[in-house]
Amino acid sequence: MERIVILTGAGVSAESGLGTFRDAGGIWSRYDLAEVATPEGYARNPSLVLDFYNARRRNCRAAAPNAAHKALADLVSERPEDVALVTQNIDDLHERGGAARVIHMHGELLRALCAHCGHRWQWPGDMTMADRCPQCSAAGSVRPDVVWFGEIPYRMEEIGDLLAQATLFVAIGTSGAVYPAAGFVAEARAVGAETVEINLEPSDTAGQFDRHLHGPASEVVPRWVAEVLSSGR
Ligand code: OAD
Repeated sequence: MERIVILTGAGVSAESGLGTFRDAGGIWSRYDLAEVATPEGYARNPSLVLDFYNARRRNCRAAAPNAAHKALADLVSERPEDVALVTQNIDDLHERGGAARVIHMHGELLRALCAHCGHRWQWPGDMTMADRCPQCSAAGSVRPDVVWFGEIPYRMEEIGDLLAQATLFVAIGTSGAVYPAAGFVAEARAVGAETVEINLEPSDTAGQFDRHLHGPASEVVPRWVAEVLSSGR
């Protein structure tokens, strides 16, 4: 039986109406990454950062999972022991598409983190500097539970173990521009896994993949999932 590790990026949620980062008109062409997605930016202007994530949280809540999220959820539920779903996305569209046990390596938009005591909890609405941590009551320390540039992504040890056992690695809708996620394909290749890229166009790391399936995720992912399930791999 294959042991499959799937890595998703913003491209999987693009057809749900959530913007990608580096495509033309993407989030990083409209916002300064250093100001809204780093600990230093948050220290300089916390309200600007909270507003950026408040807007993204509202967009996320208004969006619905697409056929790619649903097909991946089907694959995970058919083969719960053999398939791991790792995402760089902070939206909850994999979960709302039906996937259980999603590994959010860059955190989750709908959760809060107390920068003072480390407590984490669900956060469905807007966030302001007046909000207090329910655990330690600190004020001005509530932030989105997302990983900023300069911070260490979540669950890296677990992901490393999954990649070490992978026989098939699939990257979907990610530009391959951000490490450590962009290095997963090399880790999978090093243990002999087959590597597949599903993307609109060749990514920055396209040369490291054995197979390329180009096109919109909502069309290509369901076809690929059907292929895996029917092949009994
Ligand atoms: P990017 O915006 O860098 O890349 C999205 C990729 O998806 C591009 O290669 C697009 O060609 C592709 N794409 C767009 N629409 C698609 C569609 N409908 N179907 C298939 N592919 C499509 O987004 P990520 O690679 O996810 O991190 O970005 C990685 C990280 O950089 C993010 O998690 C975020 C960002 O800065 C942090 O904020 C820490």
